[in-house]
Amino acid sequence: MSTAPARKPDPGPPAHVAIIMDGNGRWAKARGLPRIAGHQRGSEAVRRVVEGAQDLGIGYLTLYAFSSENWKRPPSEVEDLMGLLRVYLRRELAALHRNGVRVRFIGERHGLADDIVSLIDEAENRTADNAGLTLIIALNYGSHNEIVRAARAIARDAAAGRLRPDEIDETRFAGYLQTIDIPDPDILIRTSGEQRLSNFLLWQSAYTELVFMDTLWPDFNKQNLAEAIDEFHGRERRYGATSG
Ligand code: FPP
Repeated sequence: MSTAPARKPDPGPPAHVAIIMDGNGRWAKARGLPRIAGHQRGSEAVRRVVEGAQDLGIGYLTLYAFSSENWKRPPSEVEDLMGLLRVYLRRELAALHRNGVRVRFIGERHGLADDIVSLIDEAENRTADNAGLTLIIALNYGSHNEIVRAARAIARDAAAGRLRPDEIDETRFAGYLQTIDIPDPDILIRTSGEQRLSNFLLWQSAYTELVFMDTLWPDFNKQNLAEAIDEFHGRERRYGATSG
């Protein structure tokens, strides 16, 4: 009989990877460049990582593009970020669609410029039937706001007699979140060495593996994504149970 060690079965790609893209400003500062230069290179990293996620067979990729707290940045930086998003959607939509990517947005549309809302609608509608990677862009997103809005909708349904309070359980509650139909993330990556969740997918990441990487977002590439997935595969997920 062969004594070769049995090879571990390939665990396959994770279903859902979420990323807090951090470090654009520091990347620019280290080069004596304005912050917008970091964001520009950051949007090139978005393009690379979306392609990388497709190559790696990931089902869902959620990117934190603009948080509900990011409005506190100087107006010129907010405008730069919105401008980059416009450029990304206008330039990339055809290629995303051609590659079978389904695009979805989470976050508050209220407060966004009308033309951005139109671009969001167009991206979602045009790609709705695609069966490849689902790319979820979190824009004007904050978990607290998402949870409060869910609670409000539940209260409205209960007050209208459409729902009994004792029918509200975790599954029912999750169905009121914007991530309905999206599996919870398996991995949440934050780049740039910071280690916090910053109001991102708080409900959905209850059992998510957190991977903090020192790479600044503009330098992030498919290889970094693959490393994060390797780290995830090396961890034992117990969902509150003991190890077997
Ligand atoms: C954090 O870096 C990054 C952001 C607040 C925005 C992320 C946006 C992009 C990557 C570009 C546009 C997005 C898309 C989807 C095309 P930071 O500015 O907080 O960096 P710092 O902590 O080093 O200052």
